Amino acid sequence: MTYLRNIWYVAAWADQVPAGEKLVRRILNEGLLLFRDAEGRAVALRDRCPHRYAPLHLGKLNDGVIECGYHGLQFNAQGACIFNPHGDGVIPPLAKVESYPVEERHDALWIWMGDKDRADPALIPDFSSVINDGNTVVRHYLNPQANYELMIDNLLDLGHTAFLHPDSLGSEAIIQSTRRTRIEGDTIVDELWAPDGDAPPMAQFLFEKFSGVKIDHWLQSTWIAPSLIRGVAGYAPAGRDRADSETLPGLHWLTPETDTTCHYFAALGRNFRREDAQLDAIIDAGVMKAFGQEDMPMVAAIQGELAGVEAERLHPLVLSTDKAGIMARGMLRKLIKKERAEPAEEPSGDAPDLAMVGG
Ligand code: FES
Ligand SMILES: [Fe+2]
Repeated sequence: MTYLRNIWYVAAWADQVPAGEKLVRRILNEGLLLFRDAEGRAVALRDRCPHRYAPLHLGKLNDGVIECGYHGLQFNAQGACIFNPHGDGVIPPLAKVESYPVEERHDALWIWMGDKDRADPALIPDFSSVINDGNTVVRHYLNPQANYELMIDNLLDLGHTAFLHPDSLGSEAIIQSTRRTRIEGDTIVDELWAPDGDAPPMAQFLFEKFSGVKIDHWLQSTWIAPSLIRGVAGYAPAGRDRADSETLPGLHWLTPETDTTCHYFAALGRNFRREDAQLDAIIDAGVMKAFGQEDMPMVAAIQGELAGVEAERLHPLVLSTDKAGIMARGMLRKLIKKERAEPAEEPSGDAPDLAMVGG
């Protein structure tokens, strides 16, 4: 499967890589090892020793230096070999491990899997509407057993909420809502307007004033190529009186793991009841139920049913709720095609050269 490479993907929440610990994570089908260097900066190396290809995570991490568990070569955080315990101790020229640019932002570690010269941190999209000092943020990590594009289909399709999440996110008003979807640069903005209906159960729980009354409900989701979504849900008393409105900002980040699995990072921010740990726990349980127990099994079952064939190739029936997802897939295809048309990087797979083997 072909992925967009010259782009920042989310590798982990920053606190999933505490100092002194290793995190093994497969991204775009490549095994990676994430850890922090002696100064606490997060780094990512290919999880494969250049000697006999032992996964480096099976070795020891000390002060930002990883020692291969098989024959003890030591590599620094840039992937350079700094110690060879064998023979004359000379460091062989091929003793280096691929490293990847990593940037810590929005509580997360972003990784660049493409051409390193183009890894500009300014290209990381802005998610400060969700993660900022004025918000309490409840974060999640899940590992859907489905291709990341199936997850994007799911997250951009709000028509499923009344059926798959009837006791949390869904409502009859959402099914009857009007949608407006437009392209803005490399993003797709999808807006939903559901006036004069019952609030979804989760909104009734979070905002008592919307329980048992008719409300206007709106959602805006912005898909940012290839796999990031920034959203905001709004609620107000029916009749467009916005003085008493409430909003909930959220985000969904998908990172391909393999062709049939992905990493899913989600977060919901709020600027009310900020110190309420009990509410944190309730939101956490609600999200894990909706996403973890309702969406993920459905999407994994679809992945199983597709048996490795891309959904578009089967010419699926299309409903109005699929519009944003179809537009996203179309834009993604174009971006991947454009990237593949660019001049390729120099091949990096050097043939083994016995004359250069040391130690
Ligand atoms: S496999 Fe790593 S040092 Fe031999
Ligand atoms: Fe869902």
